[in-house]
Amino acid sequence: MVSIVKEKRITTAVASWLFACVLISAGPCRAERAPAHAVASAHPLATQAGVEILERGGNAFDAAIAVSAALGVVEPFSSGFGGGGFWLIHRSDDGKQVMIDGRETAPALAHERMYRDAQDNVIRDASMKGPLAAGIPGMPAGLVHLAEHYGRLPLRQSLAPAIRYAEQGFKVTSRYHRLAAYMTDTLNQYPAAAGIFLQNGKPPRIGYQVRQEDLARTIEAIAEKGLDGFYRGPIAQRMVREARKHGGIWSLEDLSAYRVVEREPIVASYRGTRIVSAPPPSSGGIVMAQALRMLEQFDLDEMSSVQRKHHIVEAMRRAFRDRAVFLGDPDFVDVPTDRLLDQSYLEGLALTIDAANATPSDILGNGPAPPQAGTQTTHFSVLDKEGNRVAGTLSVNTLFGACFVTQGTGVLFNNEMDDFSVKRLTPNAYGLIGDEANAIAPGKRPLSSMTPTFLETPERIGIVGTPGGSRIISMVLLAALDFADGGLPQSWVSLRRFHHQYQPDQVQFELHGLTEFEQQRLAGLGHELREISRRYGNMQAILWDQAENRVYSASDPRGEGLAVVVE
Ligand code: DON
Repeated sequence: MVSIVKEKRITTAVASWLFACVLISAGPCRAERAPAHAVASAHPLATQAGVEILERGGNAFDAAIAVSAALGVVEPFSSGFGGGGFWLIHRSDDGKQVMIDGRETAPALAHERMYRDAQDNVIRDASMKGPLAAGIPGMPAGLVHLAEHYGRLPLRQSLAPAIRYAEQGFKVTSRYHRLAAYMTDTLNQYPAAAGIFLQNGKPPRIGYQVRQEDLARTIEAIAEKGLDGFYRGPIAQRMVREARKHGGIWSLEDLSAYRVVEREPIVASYRGTRIVSAPPPSSGGIVMAQALRMLEQFDLDEMSSVQRKHHIVEAMRRAFRDRAVFLGDPDFVDVPTDRLLDQSYLEGLALTIDAANATPSDILGNGPAPPQAGTQTTHFSVLDKEGNRVAGTLSVNTLFGACFVTQGTGVLFNNEMDDFSVKRLTPNAYGLIGDEANAIAPGKRPLSSMTPTFLETPERIGIVGTPGGSRIISMVLLAALDFADGGLPQSWVSLRRFHHQYQPDQVQFELHGLTEFEQQRLAGLGHELREISRRYGNMQAILWDQAENRVYSASDPRGEGLAVVVE
Protein backbone atom coordinates (compact mmCIF):
# COMPACT_ATOMS: atom_id res chain seq x y z
CA MET A 1 0.00 0.00 0.00
CA VAL A 2 1.46 3.35 -1.02
CA SER A 3 1.31 5.90 1.75
CA ILE A 4 0.97 9.39 0.39
CA VAL A 5 1.73 12.15 2.83
CA LYS A 6 1.98 15.90 2.48
CA GLU A 7 4.08 16.17 5.63
CA LYS A 8 7.17 14.12 6.11
CA ARG A 9 7.39 12.00 9.24
CA ILE A 10 10.60 11.21 11.06
CA THR A 11 11.23 7.48 10.76
CA THR A 12 13.85 5.17 12.20
CA ALA A 13 15.62 5.22 8.85
CA VAL A 14 16.05 8.98 9.18
CA ALA A 15 17.27 8.65 12.74
CA SER A 16 19.99 6.19 11.72
CA TRP A 17 20.96 8.41 8.83
CA LEU A 18 21.45 11.32 11.25
CA PHE A 19 23.64 9.10 13.42
CA ALA A 20 25.73 7.98 10.45
CA CYS A 21 26.18 11.58 9.42
CA VAL A 22 27.51 12.58 12.81
CA LEU A 23 29.97 9.69 12.74
CA ILE A 24 31.43 10.16 9.31
CA SER A 25 31.27 13.83 8.60
CA ALA A 26 33.03 16.77 10.12
CA GLY A 27 31.60 19.33 7.70
CA PRO A 28 27.97 20.29 7.06
CA CYS A 29 25.87 17.15 7.06
CA ARG A 30 24.15 16.44 3.74
CA ALA A 31 22.05 13.47 2.79
CA GLU A 32 23.18 11.72 -0.38
CA ARG A 33 19.95 9.78 -0.63
CA ALA A 34 16.58 11.43 -0.33
CA PRO A 35 14.35 10.17 2.48
CA ALA A 36 11.34 10.15 0.15
CA HIS A 37 10.26 10.33 -3.46
CA ALA A 38 8.21 13.28 -4.49
CA VAL A 39 6.06 14.09 -7.49
CA ALA A 40 4.26 17.36 -8.16
CA SER A 41 2.14 17.80 -11.25
CA ALA A 42 -0.85 19.71 -12.53
CA HIS A 43 -3.24 16.73 -12.37
CA PRO A 44 -3.80 14.17 -9.58
CA LEU A 45 -3.89 11.27 -12.08
CA ALA A 46 -0.52 12.27 -13.52
CA THR A 47 1.01 12.54 -10.06
CA GLN A 48 -0.41 9.10 -9.23
CA ALA A 49 1.10 7.71 -12.44
CA GLY A 50 4.52 8.96 -11.33
CA VAL A 51 4.15 7.51 -7.84
CA GLU A 52 2.98 4.18 -9.28
CA ILE A 53 6.11 3.91 -11.42
CA LEU A 54 8.43 4.89 -8.55
CA GLU A 55 6.78 2.29 -6.33
CA ARG A 56 7.34 -0.36 -9.01
CA GLY A 57 11.08 0.28 -8.93
CA GLY A 58 11.34 2.94 -11.59
CA ASN A 59 13.65 5.90 -11.14
CA ALA A 60 12.79 9.60 -11.52
CA PHE A 61 13.27 9.33 -15.31
CA ASP A 62 10.78 6.47 -15.64
CA ALA A 63 8.41 8.46 -13.44
CA ALA A 64 8.93 11.52 -15.65
CA ILE A 65 7.87 9.44 -18.68
CA ALA A 66 4.76 8.26 -16.83
CA VAL A 67 3.83 11.76 -15.65
CA SER A 68 4.48 13.39 -19.05
CA ALA A 69 2.43 10.80 -20.90
CA ALA A 70 -0.39 10.94 -18.35
CA LEU A 71 -0.53 14.74 -18.52
CA GLY A 72 -0.79 14.44 -22.29
CA VAL A 73 -3.90 12.33 -21.81
CA VAL A 74 -5.69 14.02 -18.91
CA GLU A 75 -4.75 17.65 -19.61
CA PRO A 76 -5.16 17.70 -23.40
CA PHE A 77 -5.50 21.49 -23.43
CA SER A 78 -1.97 21.82 -22.03
CA SER A 79 0.38 19.27 -23.54
CA GLY A 80 0.38 15.98 -25.40
CA PHE A 81 1.84 13.56 -27.91
CA GLY A 82 1.24 16.11 -30.67
CA GLY A 83 3.29 18.70 -28.77
CA GLY A 84 6.71 19.03 -27.24
CA GLY A 85 8.63 19.93 -24.15
CA PHE A 86 11.84 20.27 -22.23
CA TRP A 87 13.01 17.80 -19.58
CA LEU A 88 15.78 19.15 -17.37
CA ILE A 89 17.40 16.21 -15.64
CA HIS A 90 19.95 15.50 -12.94
CA ARG A 91 21.42 12.00 -12.67
CA SER A 92 22.70 11.32 -9.19
CA ASP A 93 25.27 8.61 -10.13
CA ASP A 94 27.57 10.97 -11.94
CA GLY A 95 25.96 14.37 -11.38
CA LYS A 96 25.16 14.72 -15.09
CA GLN A 97 22.81 17.63 -15.74
CA VAL A 98 21.33 18.06 -19.17
CA MET A 99 18.20 19.36 -20.85
CA ILE A 100 16.44 17.03 -23.22
CA ASP A 101 15.09 19.32 -25.90
CA GLY A 102 11.91 17.82 -27.34
CA ARG A 103 10.76 21.11 -28.80
CA GLU A 104 8.75 21.01 -32.03
CA THR A 105 10.51 21.81 -35.32
CA ALA A 106 9.21 23.73 -38.32
CA PRO A 107 8.35 21.44 -41.27
CA ALA A 108 10.60 21.53 -44.35
CA LEU A 109 8.02 23.51 -46.32
CA ALA A 110 7.82 26.24 -43.67
CA HIS A 111 9.13 29.67 -44.58
CA GLU A 112 9.50 33.09 -43.07
CA ARG A 113 6.37 34.59 -44.63
CA MET A 114 4.04 31.61 -44.32
CA TYR A 115 1.61 33.36 -41.98
CA ARG A 116 1.34 36.61 -43.97
CA ASP A 117 -0.95 37.65 -46.82
CA ALA A 118 0.05 39.24 -50.12
CA GLN A 119 0.12 42.66 -48.43
CA ASP A 120 2.48 41.28 -45.80
CA ASN A 121 -0.18 41.43 -43.09
CA VAL A 122 -0.09 38.70 -40.48
CA ILE A 123 -2.93 36.15 -40.83
CA ARG A 124 -3.47 35.63 -37.12
CA ASP A 125 -5.50 32.42 -37.25
CA ALA A 126 -3.08 30.66 -39.58
CA SER A 127 -0.40 30.28 -36.90
CA MET A 128 -2.96 29.42 -34.22
CA LYS A 129 -5.55 26.97 -35.61
CA GLY A 130 -5.46 23.86 -37.74
CA PRO A 131 -2.53 21.75 -38.90
CA LEU A 132 -0.66 24.61 -40.58
CA ALA A 133 -0.02 25.99 -37.07
CA ALA A 134 1.69 22.80 -35.91
CA GLY A 135 5.37 22.05 -35.61
CA ILE A 136 6.65 18.47 -35.82
CA PRO A 137 6.01 16.98 -32.35
CA GLY A 138 8.90 16.25 -30.00
CA MET A 139 7.08 14.72 -27.06
CA PRO A 140 7.11 11.06 -28.24
CA ALA A 141 10.82 11.31 -29.09
CA GLY A 142 11.55 12.89 -25.71
CA LEU A 143 9.90 10.00 -23.88
CA VAL A 144 11.68 7.37 -25.97
CA HIS A 145 14.99 9.13 -25.34
CA LEU A 146 14.40 9.29 -21.59
CA ALA A 147 13.59 5.56 -21.50
CA GLU A 148 16.56 4.53 -23.67
CA HIS A 149 19.21 6.62 -21.97
CA TYR A 150 18.11 7.27 -18.40
CA GLY A 151 15.20 5.07 -17.34
CA ARG A 152 15.39 1.68 -15.70
CA LEU A 153 12.04 0.20 -16.72
CA PRO A 154 10.84 -0.75 -20.20
CA LEU A 155 9.03 2.10 -21.94
CA ARG A 156 5.88 -0.03 -22.09
CA GLN A 157 5.72 -0.14 -18.31
CA SER A 158 6.23 3.60 -17.86
CA LEU A 159 3.57 4.34 -20.49
CA ALA A 160 1.05 1.90 -18.98
CA PRO A 161 -0.78 4.42 -16.73
CA ALA A 162 -1.27 6.83 -19.66
CA ILE A 163 -2.60 4.03 -21.87
CA ARG A 164 -5.00 3.09 -19.08
CA TYR A 165 -6.22 6.69 -18.65
CA ALA A 166 -6.71 7.04 -22.41
CA GLU A 167 -8.61 3.77 -22.66
CA GLN A 168 -10.73 4.02 -19.54
CA GLY A 169 -11.17 7.77 -19.64
CA PHE A 170 -10.82 10.51 -17.06
CA LYS A 171 -13.42 12.70 -15.44
CA VAL A 172 -14.08 16.24 -16.62
CA THR A 173 -13.31 18.74 -13.85
CA SER A 174 -14.53 22.30 -13.54
CA ARG A 175 -11.23 23.47 -15.01
CA TYR A 176 -11.58 21.20 -18.04
CA HIS A 177 -15.18 22.36 -18.48
CA ARG A 178 -14.20 26.05 -18.36
CA LEU A 179 -11.30 25.66 -20.80
CA ALA A 180 -13.32 23.52 -23.24
CA ALA A 181 -16.08 26.15 -23.10
CA TYR A 182 -13.53 28.76 -24.06
CA MET A 183 -12.42 26.78 -27.13
CA THR A 184 -15.75 25.21 -28.15
CA ASP A 185 -16.13 27.17 -31.40
CA THR A 186 -12.64 26.34 -32.60
CA LEU A 187 -12.85 22.68 -31.59
CA ASN A 188 -16.13 22.43 -33.48
CA GLN A 189 -14.34 23.44 -36.67
CA TYR A 190 -12.46 20.12 -36.47
CA PRO A 191 -14.93 17.25 -35.99
CA ALA A 192 -12.34 14.70 -34.89
CA ALA A 193 -11.24 17.04 -32.07
CA ALA A 194 -14.80 17.98 -31.12
CA GLY A 195 -15.78 14.31 -31.03
CA ILE A 196 -13.16 13.61 -28.38
CA PHE A 197 -13.00 16.75 -26.28
CA LEU A 198 -16.61 18.00 -26.42
CA GLN A 199 -19.90 16.30 -25.60
CA ASN A 200 -22.28 16.64 -28.56
CA GLY A 201 -20.51 19.81 -29.66
CA LYS A 202 -20.71 21.38 -26.20
CA PRO A 203 -18.33 21.59 -23.26
CA PRO A 204 -18.73 18.27 -21.44
CA ARG A 205 -20.49 18.34 -18.09
CA ILE A 206 -18.40 17.97 -14.96
CA GLY A 207 -17.96 14.27 -14.26
CA TYR A 208 -18.29 13.26 -17.93
CA GLN A 209 -15.75 10.60 -18.86
CA VAL A 210 -13.37 11.61 -21.70
CA ARG A 211 -12.16 8.44 -23.45
CA GLN A 212 -9.40 8.46 -26.07
CA GLU A 213 -9.18 4.93 -27.50
CA ASP A 214 -7.32 6.03 -30.63
CA LEU A 215 -4.76 7.83 -28.52
CA ALA A 216 -4.38 4.70 -26.38
CA ARG A 217 -3.49 2.76 -29.58
CA THR A 218 -1.00 5.47 -30.58
CA ILE A 219 0.70 5.37 -27.18
CA GLU A 220 0.78 1.58 -27.40
CA ALA A 221 2.51 1.84 -30.77
CA ILE A 222 5.16 4.06 -29.17
CA ALA A 223 5.46 1.61 -26.27
CA GLU A 224 6.01 -1.29 -28.69
CA LYS A 225 8.06 0.26 -31.46
CA GLY A 226 9.63 3.36 -29.93
CA LEU A 227 10.26 6.17 -32.44
CA ASP A 228 9.07 4.03 -35.34
CA GLY A 229 5.66 3.69 -33.72
CA PHE A 230 5.00 7.41 -34.14
CA TYR A 231 7.46 8.94 -36.60
CA ARG A 232 7.22 6.20 -39.26
CA GLY A 233 4.59 3.73 -40.41
CA PRO A 234 0.79 3.90 -40.32
CA ILE A 235 0.40 6.60 -37.63
CA ALA A 236 2.87 8.90 -39.36
CA GLN A 237 1.16 8.29 -42.71
CA ARG A 238 -2.22 9.05 -41.26
CA MET A 239 -1.04 12.27 -39.59
CA VAL A 240 0.58 13.52 -42.79
CA ARG A 241 -2.42 12.62 -44.95
CA GLU A 242 -4.91 14.29 -42.61
CA ALA A 243 -2.74 17.34 -42.04
CA ARG A 244 -2.38 17.86 -45.80
CA LYS A 245 -6.11 17.47 -46.31
CA HIS A 246 -6.71 20.36 -43.92
CA GLY A 247 -4.11 22.79 -45.22
CA GLY A 248 -1.05 21.52 -43.36
CA ILE A 249 2.45 21.01 -44.78
CA TRP A 250 3.88 18.09 -42.81
CA SER A 251 5.68 15.35 -44.71
CA LEU A 252 6.78 11.83 -43.82
CA GLU A 253 10.39 13.04 -44.06
CA ASP A 254 9.69 15.78 -41.50
CA LEU A 255 8.49 13.15 -39.06
CA SER A 256 11.25 10.62 -39.66
CA ALA A 257 13.89 13.39 -39.42
CA TYR A 258 12.76 14.56 -35.97
CA ARG A 259 15.47 14.30 -33.30
CA VAL A 260 15.65 15.36 -29.67
CA VAL A 261 18.77 17.28 -28.73
CA GLU A 262 20.63 17.06 -25.43
CA ARG A 263 21.67 20.56 -24.46
CA GLU A 264 23.85 21.89 -21.72
CA PRO A 265 21.77 23.87 -19.25
CA ILE A 266 22.31 27.54 -18.47
CA VAL A 267 24.07 27.75 -15.13
CA ALA A 268 24.14 30.98 -13.16
CA SER A 269 24.44 32.03 -9.57
CA TYR A 270 22.49 34.38 -7.36
CA ARG A 271 23.71 35.05 -3.82
CA GLY A 272 24.98 31.55 -3.21
CA THR A 273 22.21 29.76 -5.12
CA ARG A 274 23.24 27.84 -8.21
CA ILE A 275 20.54 28.18 -10.85
CA VAL A 276 20.39 25.43 -13.48
CA SER A 277 17.86 26.18 -16.16
CA ALA A 278 16.67 25.85 -19.73
CA PRO A 279 19.07 26.92 -22.52
CA PRO A 280 18.03 28.03 -26.02
CA PRO A 281 15.77 27.26 -27.82
CA SER A 282 14.20 28.32 -24.54
CA SER A 283 14.77 31.88 -23.50
CA GLY A 284 13.98 30.99 -19.89
CA GLY A 285 17.43 30.30 -18.47
CA ILE A 286 19.17 33.24 -20.09
CA VAL A 287 16.46 35.79 -19.31
CA MET A 288 16.21 34.64 -15.69
CA ALA A 289 19.99 34.52 -15.22
CA GLN A 290 20.37 38.01 -16.67
CA ALA A 291 17.67 39.41 -14.38
CA LEU A 292 19.16 37.71 -11.31
CA ARG A 293 22.67 38.96 -12.08
CA MET A 294 21.33 42.50 -12.41
CA LEU A 295 19.43 42.14 -9.14
CA GLU A 296 22.53 40.88 -7.37
CA GLN A 297 23.92 44.38 -7.71
CA PHE A 298 21.31 45.64 -5.23
CA ASP A 299 20.45 44.79 -1.67
CA LEU A 300 16.85 43.76 -2.17
CA ASP A 301 16.46 42.85 1.51
CA GLU A 302 17.07 46.42 2.55
CA MET A 303 14.50 47.83 0.14
CA SER A 304 10.86 48.71 0.70
CA SER A 305 8.47 46.35 -1.08
CA VAL A 306 7.82 48.99 -3.74
CA GLN A 307 11.52 49.55 -4.45
CA ARG A 308 12.14 45.79 -4.49
CA LYS A 309 9.38 45.28 -7.05
CA HIS A 310 10.48 48.28 -9.09
CA HIS A 311 13.99 46.84 -9.35
CA ILE A 312 12.73 43.36 -10.24
CA VAL A 313 10.51 44.85 -12.95
CA GLU A 314 13.38 46.92 -14.36
CA ALA A 315 15.64 43.86 -14.46
CA MET A 316 12.91 41.86 -16.26
CA ARG A 317 12.42 44.69 -18.77
CA ARG A 318 16.09 44.71 -19.71
CA ALA A 319 16.42 40.92 -19.91
CA PHE A 320 13.29 40.58 -22.08
CA ARG A 321 14.70 43.27 -24.40
CA ASP A 322 17.66 40.99 -25.08
CA ARG A 323 15.26 38.08 -25.57
CA ALA A 324 13.48 39.98 -28.32
CA VAL A 325 16.69 40.93 -30.10
CA PHE A 326 19.10 38.02 -29.69
CA LEU A 327 17.37 34.76 -28.86
CA GLY A 328 16.36 31.95 -31.19
CA ASP A 329 17.21 28.32 -32.00
CA PRO A 330 20.98 27.97 -31.39
CA ASP A 331 21.23 25.41 -34.21
CA PHE A 332 20.22 28.17 -36.64
CA VAL A 333 21.38 31.47 -35.18
CA ASP A 334 24.40 32.48 -33.24
CA VAL A 335 23.04 33.14 -29.75
CA PRO A 336 25.64 35.26 -27.93
CA THR A 337 25.09 33.47 -24.62
CA ASP A 338 28.47 34.39 -23.10
CA ARG A 339 28.04 38.03 -23.96
CA LEU A 340 24.48 38.11 -22.65
CA LEU A 341 25.61 36.58 -19.34
CA ASP A 342 28.81 38.61 -19.09
CA GLN A 343 29.20 40.03 -15.61
CA SER A 344 30.31 43.52 -16.66
CA TYR A 345 27.59 43.75 -19.31
CA LEU A 346 24.95 42.95 -16.69
CA GLU A 347 26.50 45.24 -14.09
CA GLY A 348 26.32 47.96 -16.75
CA LEU A 349 22.67 47.22 -17.42
CA ALA A 350 21.94 47.25 -13.67
CA LEU A 351 23.53 50.70 -13.48
CA THR A 352 20.94 52.01 -15.93
CA ILE A 353 18.16 51.16 -13.44
CA ASP A 354 16.88 54.40 -11.95
CA ALA A 355 15.45 53.96 -8.45
CA ALA A 356 13.20 56.98 -8.93
CA ASN A 357 11.81 56.35 -12.42
CA ALA A 358 10.59 53.57 -14.69
CA THR A 359 12.78 53.34 -17.80
CA PRO A 360 10.54 53.57 -20.88
CA SER A 361 11.12 50.41 -22.91
CA ASP A 362 11.29 52.49 -26.07
CA ILE A 363 14.59 54.00 -25.05
CA LEU A 364 16.04 50.48 -24.79
CA GLY A 365 14.95 49.67 -28.34
CA ASN A 366 11.80 49.59 -30.43
CA GLY A 367 8.67 47.53 -30.73
CA PRO A 368 4.86 47.58 -30.54
CA ALA A 369 2.41 46.08 -27.98
CA PRO A 370 -0.77 43.85 -27.67
CA PRO A 371 -0.59 40.99 -25.14
CA GLN A 372 -2.65 37.94 -24.30
CA ALA A 373 -1.52 35.02 -22.25
CA GLY A 374 -3.25 31.79 -21.40
CA THR A 375 -2.68 29.54 -18.43
CA GLN A 376 -1.98 26.34 -20.33
CA THR A 377 1.07 24.21 -20.96
CA THR A 378 2.08 22.16 -17.95
CA HIS A 379 4.93 21.49 -15.59
CA PHE A 380 5.88 18.64 -13.28
CA SER A 381 8.73 18.00 -10.86
CA VAL A 382 10.04 14.60 -9.71
CA LEU A 383 12.65 13.51 -7.16
CA ASP A 384 13.50 9.89 -6.41
CA LYS A 385 15.24 8.46 -3.35
CA GLU A 386 18.51 8.11 -5.22
CA GLY A 387 18.55 11.84 -5.75
CA ASN A 388 17.70 11.73 -9.47
CA ARG A 389 15.48 14.62 -10.47
CA VAL A 390 13.47 15.91 -13.40
CA ALA A 391 11.88 19.28 -14.04
CA GLY A 392 9.67 18.94 -17.11
CA THR A 393 7.69 21.63 -18.87
CA LEU A 394 5.50 20.40 -21.73
CA SER A 395 3.22 22.19 -24.14
CA VAL A 396 0.93 22.25 -27.13
CA ASN A 397 1.13 26.08 -26.80
CA THR A 398 -2.29 27.74 -26.41
CA LEU A 399 -5.47 25.95 -25.20
CA PHE A 400 -5.91 22.62 -27.01
CA GLY A 401 -3.05 23.65 -29.33
CA ALA A 402 -4.20 23.85 -32.95
CA CYS A 403 -7.55 22.23 -31.92
CA PHE A 404 -6.90 19.71 -34.69
CA VAL A 405 -6.88 15.94 -34.18
CA THR A 406 -5.94 13.48 -36.89
CA GLN A 407 -8.78 11.03 -37.25
CA GLY A 408 -7.90 7.58 -35.99
CA THR A 409 -4.75 8.56 -34.05
CA GLY A 410 -6.12 10.74 -31.25
CA VAL A 411 -3.10 13.02 -31.67
CA LEU A 412 -3.97 16.65 -30.96
CA PHE A 413 -1.66 18.98 -32.91
CA ASN A 414 0.22 21.81 -31.25
CA ASN A 415 0.21 25.41 -32.48
CA GLU A 416 3.77 26.06 -31.42
CA MET A 417 4.62 27.70 -34.78
CA ASP A 418 3.09 30.86 -33.30
CA ASP A 419 6.06 31.03 -30.91
CA PHE A 420 8.19 32.03 -33.88
CA SER A 421 8.34 35.70 -34.75
CA VAL A 422 5.88 35.38 -37.66
CA LYS A 423 6.77 38.90 -38.68
CA ARG A 424 9.52 41.13 -37.34
CA LEU A 425 8.47 42.94 -34.14
CA THR A 426 4.88 41.70 -34.42
CA PRO A 427 3.64 40.33 -31.09
CA ASN A 428 2.75 36.65 -30.77
CA ALA A 429 -0.02 35.16 -28.60
CA TYR A 430 1.87 36.29 -25.49
CA GLY A 431 2.59 39.80 -26.73
CA LEU A 432 6.23 38.82 -27.21
CA ILE A 433 8.12 40.39 -30.05
CA GLY A 434 11.12 38.92 -31.82
CA ASP A 435 13.50 39.60 -34.61
CA GLU A 436 15.53 37.72 -37.22
CA ALA A 437 16.93 35.35 -34.59
CA ASN A 438 13.45 33.86 -34.11
CA ALA A 439 12.24 34.00 -37.74
CA ILE A 440 10.71 30.83 -39.23
CA ALA A 441 13.00 28.45 -41.12
CA PRO A 442 12.64 24.76 -42.06
CA GLY A 443 13.72 22.44 -39.26
CA LYS A 444 14.11 25.33 -36.80
CA ARG A 445 12.71 25.31 -33.26
CA PRO A 446 10.57 28.26 -32.17
CA LEU A 447 11.91 30.26 -29.23
CA SER A 448 10.26 29.20 -25.99
CA SER A 449 9.80 30.69 -22.53
CA MET A 450 9.48 27.33 -20.78
CA THR A 451 11.82 27.36 -17.80
CA PRO A 452 12.25 24.04 -16.01
CA THR A 453 14.77 24.86 -13.29
CA PHE A 454 16.89 23.45 -10.46
CA LEU A 455 17.83 25.73 -7.58
CA GLU A 456 20.83 24.48 -5.64
CA THR A 457 22.82 25.41 -2.58
CA PRO A 458 25.16 23.02 -0.75
CA GLU A 459 22.22 22.08 1.47
CA ARG A 460 19.01 22.63 -0.49
CA ILE A 461 17.83 21.39 -3.87
CA GLY A 462 14.77 22.94 -5.52
CA ILE A 463 12.94 21.58 -8.60
CA VAL A 464 10.51 24.04 -10.13
CA GLY A 465 8.65 25.29 -13.19
CA THR A 466 5.26 26.45 -14.41
CA PRO A 467 3.17 27.18 -17.49
CA GLY A 468 2.19 30.76 -18.35
CA GLY A 469 3.69 31.80 -21.70
CA SER A 470 6.09 34.72 -21.36
CA ARG A 471 5.19 35.03 -17.67
CA ILE A 472 6.77 31.63 -16.99
CA ILE A 473 10.15 33.30 -16.71
CA SER A 474 9.09 35.95 -14.21
CA MET A 475 7.23 33.37 -12.11
CA VAL A 476 10.30 31.14 -11.87
CA LEU A 477 12.45 34.20 -11.19
CA LEU A 478 10.22 35.19 -8.24
CA ALA A 479 10.40 31.60 -6.97
CA ALA A 480 14.22 31.67 -7.25
CA LEU A 481 14.36 34.87 -5.21
CA ASP A 482 12.11 33.28 -2.58
CA PHE A 483 14.27 30.13 -2.53
CA ALA A 484 17.32 32.33 -1.96
CA ASP A 485 15.48 33.95 0.96
CA GLY A 486 14.90 30.49 2.50
CA GLY A 487 11.28 30.05 1.36
CA LEU A 488 9.66 26.62 0.97
CA PRO A 489 7.78 25.25 -2.08
CA GLN A 490 4.41 26.15 -0.57
CA SER A 491 5.57 29.74 -0.55
CA TRP A 492 7.05 29.70 -4.12
CA VAL A 493 3.84 28.39 -5.63
CA SER A 494 1.68 30.84 -3.69
CA LEU A 495 3.67 34.05 -4.31
CA ARG A 496 1.73 37.00 -5.68
CA ARG A 497 2.89 37.46 -9.24
CA PHE A 498 3.92 40.43 -11.35
CA HIS A 499 5.70 40.63 -14.65
CA HIS A 500 7.39 42.86 -17.20
CA GLN A 501 8.49 41.70 -20.65
CA TYR A 502 9.95 44.86 -22.21
CA GLN A 503 7.09 45.16 -24.70
CA PRO A 504 4.28 45.93 -24.05
CA ASP A 505 5.82 48.50 -21.72
CA GLN A 506 3.69 47.72 -18.69
CA VAL A 507 3.91 45.98 -15.35
CA GLN A 508 1.39 43.15 -15.59
CA PHE A 509 0.16 41.68 -12.34
CA GLU A 510 -2.30 39.00 -11.40
CA LEU A 511 -5.42 39.68 -9.38
CA HIS A 512 -4.10 40.89 -5.98
CA GLY A 513 -0.53 40.60 -7.31
CA LEU A 514 0.31 44.11 -6.10
CA THR A 515 -1.28 45.93 -3.18
CA GLU A 516 -3.13 49.22 -3.79
CA PHE A 517 -0.23 50.99 -2.12
CA GLU A 518 2.35 49.27 -4.35
CA GLN A 519 0.30 50.07 -7.43
CA GLN A 520 0.13 53.76 -6.50
CA ARG A 521 3.83 53.97 -5.75
CA LEU A 522 4.89 52.08 -8.88
CA ALA A 523 2.63 54.30 -10.98
CA GLY A 524 4.31 57.25 -9.26
CA LEU A 525 7.68 55.96 -10.52
CA GLY A 526 6.30 56.09 -14.06
CA HIS A 527 5.21 52.48 -14.58
CA GLU A 528 2.11 51.72 -16.59
CA LEU A 529 0.22 49.04 -14.70
CA ARG A 530 -2.09 46.37 -16.04
CA GLU A 531 -4.01 44.04 -13.80
CA ILE A 532 -4.77 40.63 -15.30
CA SER A 533 -8.34 39.86 -14.24
CA ARG A 534 -7.45 36.46 -12.85
CA ARG A 535 -4.57 34.72 -11.11
CA TYR A 536 -2.08 33.05 -13.44
CA GLY A 537 0.43 30.19 -13.41
CA ASN A 538 0.36 26.58 -12.25
CA MET A 539 3.70 25.99 -10.53
CA GLN A 540 4.74 22.50 -9.35
CA ALA A 541 7.66 22.42 -6.95
CA ILE A 542 9.82 20.13 -4.81
CA LEU A 543 12.47 20.96 -2.22
CA TRP A 544 14.93 18.47 -0.84
CA ASP A 545 16.48 20.00 2.23
CA GLN A 546 19.61 17.89 2.56
CA ALA A 547 20.64 19.43 5.86
CA GLU A 548 17.30 18.60 7.48
CA ASN A 549 17.01 15.48 5.30
CA ARG A 550 13.47 16.39 4.50
CA VAL A 551 11.48 16.59 1.28
CA TYR A 552 8.72 19.11 0.65
CA SER A 553 6.49 19.47 -2.37
CA ALA A 554 3.74 21.84 -3.39
CA SER A 555 1.27 22.35 -6.18
CA ASP A 556 0.04 25.80 -7.18
CA PRO A 557 -3.17 26.71 -5.33
CA ARG A 558 -4.41 28.29 -8.57
CA GLY A 559 -4.65 24.88 -10.26
CA GLU A 560 -6.03 21.46 -9.46
CA GLY A 561 -2.69 19.64 -9.26
CA LEU A 562 -1.37 17.29 -6.62
CA ALA A 563 2.01 17.27 -4.92
CA VAL A 564 3.00 14.30 -2.83
CA VAL A 565 5.92 13.11 -0.77
CA VAL A 566 6.10 9.36 -0.40
CA GLU A 567 8.33 8.08 2.37
O1 DON B 1 7.11 27.58 -25.32
C1 DON B 1 6.50 28.56 -24.92
O2 DON B 1 7.04 29.53 -24.44
C2 DON B 1 4.99 28.57 -25.00
N1 DON B 1 4.56 27.72 -26.06
C3 DON B 1 4.44 28.18 -23.68
C4 DON B 1 2.94 28.31 -23.67
C5 DON B 1 2.35 28.44 -22.35
O3 DON B 1 2.99 28.42 -21.32
C6 DON B 1 0.87 28.60 -22.35
N2 DON B 1 0.41 28.98 -21.08
N3 DON B 1 0.02 30.05 -20.82
